[in-house]
Amino acid sequence: MYPQVLPPQKAKVAIVTGGAKGIGYETAKHLSRLGMHVIIAGNHENQGKLSVSRIVKETGNDKVEFMFLELASMHSIRQFVQNFKAKNLLLHVLVNNAAVMLVPQRNTVDGFEEHFGVNYLGHFLLTHLLLDTLKHSGSHDHNARIVTLSSATHYIGELNFNDLQSRRHYSPHGAYAQSKLALVLFSYELQQRLTAEGSYVTSNVVDPGVVNTDLYKHTSWLFKLCKWLTSWLFFKTAAQGASTVIYAAVSPDLEGVGGVYLANGQKTKSADLSYDVDLQRKLWTQSCKLVGIPEWCQSDC
Ligand SMILES: NC(=O)c1ccc[n+]([C@@H]2O[C@H](COP(=O)([O-])OP(=O)(O)OC[C@H]3O[C@@H](n4cnc5c(N)ncnc54)[C@H](OP(=O)(O)O)[C@@H]3O)[C@@H](O)[C@H]2O)c1
Repeated sequence: MYPQVLPPQKAKVAIVTGGAKGIGYETAKHLSRLGMHVIIAGNHENQGKLSVSRIVKETGNDKVEFMFLELASMHSIRQFVQNFKAKNLLLHVLVNNAAVMLVPQRNTVDGFEEHFGVNYLGHFLLTHLLLDTLKHSGSHDHNARIVTLSSATHYIGELNFNDLQSRRHYSPHGAYAQSKLALVLFSYELQQRLTAEGSYVTSNVVDPGVVNTDLYKHTSWLFKLCKWLTSWLFFKTAAQGASTVIYAAVSPDLEGVGGVYLANGQKTKSADLSYDVDLQRKLWTQSCKLVGIPEWCQSDC
């Protein structure tokens, strides 16, 4: 049943990417309130540390920390995972939340188109590098959970395998939608692989709805004006947007449930294309090649 009072999560550990603001911040705050040790993984240290202080003050939980993660750099992702593993913590919840939207055409450090590189490939690599810890942390009655944020935009997304990096034709809307579709395909394929090997880890996707955050900072001035005038009517607050993410991360309703798309706290059908298993596998194989890891990374890849 959603929304619901969620059980305490003492001694559990979560990583929230992009957790310094917006939906990620509200997610990190709520998980802290439930007693979790929360790591805010972000690319702006000052902002991250400020968010940590606010959460500690508001929740009284001092097990909240910031760790630097630049998803536009494969090196930074590997460094983040190395630093995290050096802490010898378990990992019960990974929230793949960070994203950019409608940015002008530009590349990540590794030469990937920014939406595809940050939103999708960055989280693809991060998840793979943390899988061994997630598998080690999940148990039969308390599966570890991977919660990946997509968007309703994925319904209009297309995957252009001849030009995944949008070199020939760049549309900011198309590139964002492609990255969000890729995340859904990835989550489903990941769940199939986890199920096949009997891991106690689940992978689900969340659409938070239309939420009033900084994600819209690259939209036109006209859109910004309309948003400013009507946000109270049409936009959720960041806390409301985070509610389905938190539900996916800790609700007992979803214990052992994986491979689903959640919107407004409900299992919802995603785009027809996202259920195409050949497409899921093709994208997986291609993504492994792009980030330089083996097809099924068991540990330390
Ligand atoms: N807002 C909506 O209406 C809406 C709708 C559907 C889906 N979503 C999804 O919800 C998620 C959260 O978005 P939001 O609305 O909360 O947006 P937001 O307030 O802009 O938060 C996005 C977070 O991602 C971080 N980020 C961006 N690039 C990064 C990078 N290269 N490395 C590390 N972190 C990076 C941002 O940090 P900096 O900005 O400080 O770099 C920020 O903390 C996203 O996946 C988004 O696609 C949002």
